[in-house]
Amino acid sequence: MDDLFRLITQFLHVFAAILWIGGGFYTLMVQLPAILAAPASARGPVMAQLAPRQVFYILRVAELTLVTGFLNLFASGRARQLEDPFGSRWAVVILLGMLLAIGLYVLIRSTVVPWTQRTLMLGPKAAAGDAEAAAEAGRIIKRIRTVGRVQVGIGTLIIFTMVAARLS
Ligand code: HEM
Repeated sequence: MDDLFRLITQFLHVFAAILWIGGGFYTLMVQLPAILAAPASARGPVMAQLAPRQVFYILRVAELTLVTGFLNLFASGRARQLEDPFGSRWAVVILLGMLLAIGLYVLIRSTVVPWTQRTLMLGPKAAAGDAEAAAEAGRIIKRIRTVGRVQVGIGTLIIFTMVAARLS
């Protein structure tokens, strides 16, 4: 039974992590460059369809990664090692990964979510020919791209810490 719990939580955790950080890479390398290359007037309608789905997707897979990560602490049978944070290499790297993961989630919630809502408000104006709205939307998309870069950078670091934990 314990083995089954471990198998399921580890599978879900790694799968969710792939969907989260893999989705981040795809957005950064394919989707955002395509949106920025499109004419400003076309961005509004595309963003209106894309952005809410994108935000919903990234938040849910991030939450699934975090929840299954916490479950993994118990499934691995090593949760009590965290009572002494500097007592083992496993505890150090897992705690570092946890802090980075929670920080990354907070960063996304506090930047990408409000910026996306602002872009959605600007979209119809930009599509109607409002040059100032189009320019602001373009600036926000570039800021979202910067957070996207931070996301894949920190995400890669978290994956490294998790693999290091497994090998500890
Ligand atoms: C609160 C956040 C998190 C916690 C508490 C957590 C916890 C864990 C634990 C306990 C393990 C098993 C380690 C072992 O077997 O010794 C693990 C594995 C793993 N975690 Fe996390 N994790 C978190 C977030 C993340 C995130 C955000 C990612 C991806 C970006 C991630 C990717 C992985 C991967 C790929 C493994 C498998 C490593 C391997 O089997 O070599 N984790 N995690």
